[in-house]
Parts: sequence; structure tokens; C-alpha cells
Amino acid sequence: MVTSTIPARGSMLYEGKAKKVYATDNPELCVVSYKDDATAFNGLKKGVISGKGAINNRVTNHLMRLLESNGIPTHLVEELNDRDTLVKRVSIIPLEVIIRNIAAGSLAKRLGIAEGAPMKRTVIEYCYKDDSLGDPIVNDSHILAMDWANESELKLISEASLRINNILKEYLSGAGLTLVDFKLEFGRLPGGEIVLADEISPDTCRFWDANTGEKLDKDRFRRNLGGVEEAYREIRARLLGADK
Ligand code: TMP
Repeated sequence: MVTSTIPARGSMLYEGKAKKVYATDNPELCVVSYKDDATAFNGLKKGVISGKGAINNRVTNHLMRLLESNGIPTHLVEELNDRDTLVKRVSIIPLEVIIRNIAAGSLAKRLGIAEGAPMKRTVIEYCYKDDSLGDPIVNDSHILAMDWANESELKLISEASLRINNILKEYLSGAGLTLVDFKLEFGRLPGGEIVLADEISPDTCRFWDANTGEKLDKDRFRRNLGGVEEAYREIRARLLGADK
């Protein structure tokens, strides 16, 4: 009999809007399974993007491996199949860390700036992860006051996020893509170490074609622009080439 070191997928622990999380027989590991389901506006708009789960799984693992090789610790353990990835079990810090290189989306709207306007420097924002509240924007003092993270953890999270931005921006520009903005989530391992978790995909980033400005991300779904599946496939092709 062949014995595998890969733990078996057990019962479902949690179902989110784009992923399911399963327990394994190792309490320190779980399996993330990417769905084709898509939502926007905190779940108000619902749909399916055919093939999205497999693309987001591949793209996330590819980019997380790139980050790992640049010294950024992540939850990634091993890609299991086209939709499933074995990850370290973390307790998610209830923050969405948003990094913005170019004004777009909610920032452009909130501040009355044209989408695409350049900014003098990179912006970092935090949102409290709670769909029922619409993921409200919060600042450092809210985070410390609510004890979502302590001062040294917040410093680590913000510094890692800005480093991740530099690594991804440079890598994506080699694929003819402008990294407009993106969202990160971090989690705590049982010993307290903070690692990058969740996903990095066209669901969670704005990718614009560097030459034409064409949107190649979930904004095509959010804004009913058409060509949604094609945009996801284009990202996979640019980042993974023939390995589709
Ligand atoms: P925003 O401009 O709508 O605030 O989005 C900023 C970035 O964060 C964008 O790249 C999309 C990503 N994002 C998520 O990953 N999840 C979300 O729930 C939202 C609102 C944005």
C-alpha cells in the first residue's frame, strides 16, 4: 500500500464567498478549495465565473511561491489539485489590507478622483472584515484599540504589505501588467507568527494591461464589462505561460 504524507481532506470548517475550507487529520493544516462563485458589493451581486476557481488557485500559489522565495512567509504548503491547496491553519486577523499604487475603485469614488490618476506615493488602507457592516475602513488606532493586532504585529503587517507590493509590481510589469491595487489578509499560526494568508488573484487585485489599460480582473464582473472568463484566462496565460 502506498502511504501518502498528504493529509486527507476532512469535514468542511467554513464556506466563504469564493472558497471552502476543510479540516485535515493534521490539526495544523487545512485544505482551501477555490470555487467558481463570484460576489461583489459584500455579497449583494452574485454570479459564477466559469473556471475561476482553478485559475485563482494556480495564480495564488504561483504568486505566493514567488513571495516565499523573496522571504515573505505565507500559509502555503502544497498545491493538491486544480482547485485545492494544502495550507497551514491560521487564525485570520480580521483586516483587509489594501495597497494602492494608482487611484481606482472605492478610493477614487470616496475622494472624487478620476480612476487612473497617479498618486505621489503608495497608499495603505485597512478595512475591518465584516460583510454585514460593509467592511468599514479603519485606521491604526482603531486596530490597536480593538486589539485586532498589537503595535509590533501591525508594523510587521504594514511593512510586509509594502514589500509584497514591490515584489509583485516588478514581477507583474514583466508580464505587461500594471498592479493598480490589491487586498491582502494575514493570519496567526498557533505560535503567534504572522503569515500571509487568503489569496492573491484577479478576484483580489486590479490588473490593467500596461499598454492598453484594459481591465483584466474582477472589475469586469463587478461592472458588467463582459469578457470576464477571458480576462481570468489571460492573467493565467501571462503569469504561467504554457503551464495552463
Ligand atoms: P476597492 O477599490 O473596491 O476598495 O478595492 C481595492 C482592492 O481590493 C481591489 O484590488 C479589489 C480588492 N478587494 C477585495 O479583494 N475584496 C473586497 O471585498 C473588496 C471590496 C476589494
